[in-house]
Amino acid sequence: MSAHDAHPWIRLCRVDDIPRLGSRVVERAEGNLAVFRTAQDKVFALLDRCPHKAGPLSQGIVHGESVTCPLHGWQLGLEDGRARAPDEGCARRFPVRVDEGVVYLGLD
Ligand code: FES
Repeated sequence: MSAHDAHPWIRLCRVDDIPRLGSRVVERAEGNLAVFRTAQDKVFALLDRCPHKAGPLSQGIVHGESVTCPLHGWQLGLEDGRARAPDEGCARRFPVRVDEGVVYLGLD
């Protein structure tokens, strides 16, 4: 970590603590985060709140680098949180860093 990092990085867990093609919820007063792990062990974090009607994205199905909301099936990109067309909306994303198998969240 350098003094130039834009975010304070919070150590969350090991990558292996997140189920592959699943997620882990980080509870926050400002709104929970869903931290996802793909089949390729990439890790992404979104607000655990679908931009459609606030469904819990952490309970969605991860495929490729997307998640399908469990409520009405919107698909959101894990990288940018954007709904796939024809749906429109965006879940807030949070920076994630993986260093030697440890997941760090960039929280402001
Ligand atoms: S709440 Fe997510 S698709 Fe409707």
